Amino acid sequence: MTADTYTYQEGFGNHFTSEAIKDSLPKGQNTPQNCPFNLYAEQLSGSAFSAPRTHNQRSWLYRIRPSVVHSPFEPAKTSQDLVSKFDDNCIVTPTQIRWSPFDLPSNKEQVNFVQGIKTLAGAGDPACRSGLAVHIYTANTDMNKSAFYNSDGDYLIVPQKGALDITTEFGPMLVSPNEICVIQRGIRFSVDLPEKEARGYILEVYNGHFELPDLGPIGSNGLANPRDFQTPTATFKEESNVAWEIVSKFNGRLFKAQQNHTPFDVVAWHGNYAPYKYNLAKFCVINSVSFDHIDPSIFTVLTAKSDSAHYPVADFVIFPPRWAVTENTFRPPYFHRNCMSEFMGLIAGDYDGKSDGFLPGGGSLHSIMTPHGPDANVFKMASKSELKPLLMGKNTQSFMFETYYMLSITPWGIKTCGKVQEDYWKVWSTLENTFSPPVEK
Ligand SMILES: [Fe+2]
Repeated sequence: MTADTYTYQEGFGNHFTSEAIKDSLPKGQNTPQNCPFNLYAEQLSGSAFSAPRTHNQRSWLYRIRPSVVHSPFEPAKTSQDLVSKFDDNCIVTPTQIRWSPFDLPSNKEQVNFVQGIKTLAGAGDPACRSGLAVHIYTANTDMNKSAFYNSDGDYLIVPQKGALDITTEFGPMLVSPNEICVIQRGIRFSVDLPEKEARGYILEVYNGHFELPDLGPIGSNGLANPRDFQTPTATFKEESNVAWEIVSKFNGRLFKAQQNHTPFDVVAWHGNYAPYKYNLAKFCVINSVSFDHIDPSIFTVLTAKSDSAHYPVADFVIFPPRWAVTENTFRPPYFHRNCMSEFMGLIAGDYDGKSDGFLPGGGSLHSIMTPHGPDANVFKMASKSELKPLLMGKNTQSFMFETYYMLSITPWGIKTCGKVQEDYWKVWSTLENTFSPPVEK
C-alpha cells in the first residue's frame, strides 16, 4: 500500500462513524435484533460504563465474527526484557543517564514489533491501574498472521526509524517517523514494516487515556489542533480457515490464543474509542517573543491526566523546529531540577541543549529532583552568541515523556542493552567558576 491508499477521519475524540460497505451500520440503534448483512455487534469499552460523559469512551464494532471466537488463551513465552512490575530486579538511581542509539536486530534473527519491545524504565503496576512504562522497540520482520492487544495500558508509539504499517480493527494506518500514534487498551493490531527495519519509543500508561492539554490563556487555537489527528476508516477482510494467533499482554505477561479467521473483519464501526495518529510537523508552536525561556509545557502534544489537577500521569512533549527571537536571553534549556521525571528521545537531527552524545535512536533520563541542563559547550556558546532571529532545529525532532512517577530502570535498560554512556556526567564537569564580584577599591 502507498501512503495515499490509507483514508482517515479528522478530529480528536470525535464520535466517528465508518462503513466499509454502505448501510452496514445499524440506523438509530446499536444492537438491533439482526444487524445489517448479518454482522455481529460488539462493544469495546474504554472507560467505566458510568464514567462522566466528558470522559466516557466506547465504540461499537460490526464484524463478521465476534472476537470471542478463539481457542482458550495459554501462557506464551514472555521475554524477561518486557517488564510491567518494577520490583527489586530494577534499579533506582538519581544519577543522570544517557543511552547511545539502541541496536536494531541483527540479520541473523527475525524480530517482529511485539517481540522487539524491551522495557527501559517504569513505575507502578497495571494490576492496580497505576503507573507507566517506557519501552524501546526494534524490529525487522512483519507480524504475519499475528495480532496483538494490550490489556494493561494505552500505547503512545513514537517511530524513530522506519514506518509502521499498522492494521487495526478500526482500519489501517501508516505511521512514519515524525508521526506518532496512540493505540488504546484492548484494540487488536498487527504491524508490518514497509522498510523492513524499525526502531522507536513507546509510552504505556496503565490508567486513563491521552487527551489534548487545556490551553488556558493561549485560547482556542495552537499547539496540536484537534483536526490534525487522524483516525482510520473501516477496512475489513473476509477469511475462513486461515490460522491467526492473538497475543494478549495481560498483567505484564503474554498469552496466546488461536483462531481460524482474521481479527480484522470489522465492516463498520462507530464511537469515540479508536486509534489515531498525528503528524508532529503540524504542531503550532507557541513561545516567548520578548525575553526569557518558557517552561516546556508549551510544547505538550498530549497529556494523560491523573486524578489531581496538579500533575499529570505523563505528558508527551516535543521540541520541534521553531524560531528563536528572544532578546537578552540564554536561549537553550536552562539549568533546572524538576519534580517530575524526564525521559527524552531524539527522532532526528540535534537537540539544542546538547552539543554531542544525544543521538537519534538513543535517550536520556533525568529523574525527579536530579539537576541537569545545557552541557558546558552549549553554555559557553549560548552565553556569547549573537541574538538574532534564528530558525532552530530545522530537520530536528526531539521529545520528552515527562511523568509524575519516580522511574525504576530495568536490567535491560541499565545493563543488557549495553548503551548506557558511563561518562555522561562529564558533560557538566568543566563548568567553571566564573563568578566575578565587584572588586572593592
Ligand atoms: Fe529537564
